[in-house]
Amino acid sequence: MSINTRLVLAGQQTDTCYNSIVPPIYQTATFRFEDIGVTRGFDYTRSGNPTRKALEDIFAELEGGAGAVAVNTGMAAISTVLALFNAGDHIICSHDCYGGTERLLCTLRDQGKIDVSFVDLTDPVALIDARKPHTRAIWVETPSNPLLRIVDLEQVALFARAARVLLVVDNTFLSPLLQQPIALGADIVVHSTTKYLNGHSDVVGGAIIARTEELYREIAFTANAHGTTAPPFDSWLVLRGIKTLPLRLRQHEANALAVARFLENHPNVEKVFYPGLESHEGHELASRQQRGFGGMVSFALRGGATEIRHVLLSTKVFALAESLGGVESLIEQPATMSHAAMRPEQRAAAGITDAVIRLSVGIEDIDDLIADLAHALDFTEDVAPHGSRAGVTEELHV
Ligand SMILES: Cc1ncc(COP(=O)(O)O)c(C=O)c1O
Repeated sequence: MSINTRLVLAGQQTDTCYNSIVPPIYQTATFRFEDIGVTRGFDYTRSGNPTRKALEDIFAELEGGAGAVAVNTGMAAISTVLALFNAGDHIICSHDCYGGTERLLCTLRDQGKIDVSFVDLTDPVALIDARKPHTRAIWVETPSNPLLRIVDLEQVALFARAARVLLVVDNTFLSPLLQQPIALGADIVVHSTTKYLNGHSDVVGGAIIARTEELYREIAFTANAHGTTAPPFDSWLVLRGIKTLPLRLRQHEANALAVARFLENHPNVEKVFYPGLESHEGHELASRQQRGFGGMVSFALRGGATEIRHVLLSTKVFALAESLGGVESLIEQPATMSHAAMRPEQRAAAGITDAVIRLSVGIEDIDDLIADLAHALDFTEDVAPHGSRAGVTEELHV
């Protein structure tokens, strides 16, 4: 069966009592034992729950892994995987990763728990130079957030295998429909399911998918021990959202390409970052490695603080908000929003300047999206801050 069909069928066999088409929400903390030591497969929801299991099964299938664990946020997925390492282990991480990932890695380093190097993983020499005797993992985000740099996963996987270190890939930006890191050599895939997998901006969630049964067991043990597993209702929402993933992604991508082409030709735009554009330095690699280019577009604005403020405050369809991957279009300034948690020197090294604006392109009518951006990029018009948007200059720490 094609994956589109499998997604629609996901969870349908969960209700053996009444055969409901929609999987039930097993909103229970605990399950009755049938005898001492005998259950119907579940004993306590932190350790296992049928609604969450239905979601985990489809995650594992989508990513081609031996097993998956659904957890309560994308950061919970990341912290659960980081809990697999021992004191002093060294991790090499993409230098332009999500701000929250950088914040957590730096906090663990400052607490003396791990060692970390942030490296431009598009440069194979930098990766080789970063390796230490106690390196245990390479952590990759591709496309990266927010500049959409593309890392060659097969190349990094070859290095990881030879060095006997784990390759972990954050696949949030593309979803398993557009990129399958395990097939390219990754050992663990993490997701913020808050984004495309759920797709409706109404839940925060995460997922961890393991290549091998052994790794899966270790991750499931750690998630249960740390209590990071996802609640039944949130699992049910993601299970509902994921059924329309192929349709949504198609529209996200078509809109994103049209938006990127519009921005590329706009006089007030310095540079557009979208791997689907032939001008993007990772275009050729992305065309080989990915099954699509996704719905995220970033651009550097020509102008200063006034123009940046003008763009962020003028859109009516694009909402000024963090997050990505929902059906609605969002606009944000990474330096003060999604990447505010990142140390300023790390932001500078990654090229995340104040002029960079990130768009999560939704599934609205493309004409409305282009008209909205055209209006926001027209600096001849005065736009006064209004309502809740007046606090735009405040630093946010999501
Ligand atoms: C690439 C990436 N990974 C992980 C996360 C963290 O996810 P969550 O907000 O669900 O904890 C985010 C959040 O924006 C992200 O963009």
